[in-house]
Amino acid sequence: MVHPGSIVILDFGSQYTHLIGNRIRRLGAYSEILPPETPAEDLKDAAAIILSGGPQSVYDAGSPQADKKILELGKPVLGLCYGLHWMTQTLGGEVKPGHVKEYGRTKITIVDGDTLLQDCGDSCTVWMSHGDEAVKLPEGFKLIATSDTCKNTAFADETRKFFALQFHPEVMHSEHGIDMLKRFVDVSKAAPWSVESFAKKIGDDITKEVGEKNVFMLVSGGVDSTVAFTLLNQVLGADRVVGLLVDTGLMRKDEVTLIKQAFDVLGIKNLHVEDASEEFLSNLKGVTEPEKKRQIIGDTFLAVQKRVSESMQLENGKWMLGQGTIYPDTIETGGTKHADKIKTHHNRVDAIQKMIDQGLVIEPLKELYKDEVRILGEELGLPHDLVWRHPFPGPGLGVRILCADKPDTIETPKLDISHPSAILPIRSVGVQGDNRTYRHALVLFSKEKEGDIDAMIPLATSIPNQSRDINRVLVCLSHADPFEFSFTPLSITRERADLLRDADNLVDRIMRSENLYQSIWQFPVVLLPAGSTPGGQTIVLRPVESTDAMTAGMGTIPASVLAAMTKGLLAIPGIDTVLLDMTTKPPGTIEWE
Ligand code: XMP
Repeated sequence: MVHPGSIVILDFGSQYTHLIGNRIRRLGAYSEILPPETPAEDLKDAAAIILSGGPQSVYDAGSPQADKKILELGKPVLGLCYGLHWMTQTLGGEVKPGHVKEYGRTKITIVDGDTLLQDCGDSCTVWMSHGDEAVKLPEGFKLIATSDTCKNTAFADETRKFFALQFHPEVMHSEHGIDMLKRFVDVSKAAPWSVESFAKKIGDDITKEVGEKNVFMLVSGGVDSTVAFTLLNQVLGADRVVGLLVDTGLMRKDEVTLIKQAFDVLGIKNLHVEDASEEFLSNLKGVTEPEKKRQIIGDTFLAVQKRVSESMQLENGKWMLGQGTIYPDTIETGGTKHADKIKTHHNRVDAIQKMIDQGLVIEPLKELYKDEVRILGEELGLPHDLVWRHPFPGPGLGVRILCADKPDTIETPKLDISHPSAILPIRSVGVQGDNRTYRHALVLFSKEKEGDIDAMIPLATSIPNQSRDINRVLVCLSHADPFEFSFTPLSITRERADLLRDADNLVDRIMRSENLYQSIWQFPVVLLPAGSTPGGQTIVLRPVESTDAMTAGMGTIPASVLAAMTKGLLAIPGIDTVLLDMTTKPPGTIEWE
């Protein structure tokens, strides 16, 4: 059953489903993501329904379908992209492949601004990502916006409060997208919602779920587990909560000391630190496959937790396991279903899933998005700097130390570029169209250093569109002249972890001293098993700007700062190349695996 008065998003498989969910909440209504086939009966308490986009064609056999009765509930419905196609077909209109396979920014002209588009003026630019289009509107609908490439870009039945948009108002590239969603929230008359008001419900849920038990919690030092641990301490009291910080050997420089100090300041003393770095590193020895690395890290976490909790004599049936899992980690949207074959979240490995099924896991933040966790953290009195730290992945540096036992390369595809270039001999994760991909990265070389990077961004954006084999584009900061990358078979070792720790620490210190830390969302520093000389390794700088990690662009760092970072990084023995990742998400993900 849904929360009364919430806006339900039926997920047809779009990569942007969580983005819609988060935007709706920022607009003050609670959003929930449910599978497309959810029976209409279950949606009776919802205020309105949004039908997400999705990669398939609605006229194909086996394409995802919603319960037709949702259109008879008398609730406002907003169909986006595939959601528009499904609404059109179900209500008697017609959908066909478009003449142009539209992808990216498109100018639309407003024909009738009535309800949804009244803040858009005469025209605006929006983000389109689907080739199909409605060629005949269902009865009762009128056209509200059009574009050169897709006549029926947006249409509405104001009487039934049904709205259909061919584009994605939820992505930041859509001008006035947020205004359109706000108009829909207003029409839906959803129950008002805020993190602050939700915190009380979360507290009540914790008390109910935990009952007489106590909670044992793995704390990583990341924002999510820090907030969850603090919340559990405040709701249940320190004598019913024990925290365990496992030093995985894959943490940032001085991370453990810093976390301990931060909790000390808050008066939270029930945190036990276990140095398990040897165990993690020996389990990861020789392992190169990204998914296997994630699995091992997750399983080792569990083994250590089990061993330590046994030694702490917690295993007497009175304890639950606490986790800092947040909403996007728990709701597997259609768009990430496929991705999960490439990337399993460490909070959802089999052993933990089994415990969840037995009701032995408490995840107090499981309904919140990251920005909401931060707001809650400040509400709980955690220091601003701690709460607003850049996100750091659970598997830590493990997903930033790239490993391979043999080079994996392709011929440079035919591209319309004037810069010399090279293909990296390893692949990385990306997201192209509505699917996750595991493809190659192209490195561009340039003689002009200062100011040239800005000029390269449009080029970096165009290259993955020119060749589907490329999902990332980088510029070489350390070398002006092109070279072939020299590959070294490497897995995770303590030496490599230390090397990356030093590199990451140098970048972090420069960002803080230059007052740039808060200006960007996240700054992964990645170590590659290839360099400009035999045995040399590469550091990739990946500064990103984002609001929720679901879409991202390159974060702007002044050329002089990049130069200082490059100089410092090249002085670290073992590193001979520095690259800057210019890729947006999509087509690249934030992390490299
Ligand atoms: P991607 O790479 O998918 O990352 O663009 C989106 C956000 O998620 C973080 N991330 C992870 N966090 N466990 C985590 O706890 C993971 O396995 C993981 N992988 C990615 C990433 O740092 C970014 O903030």
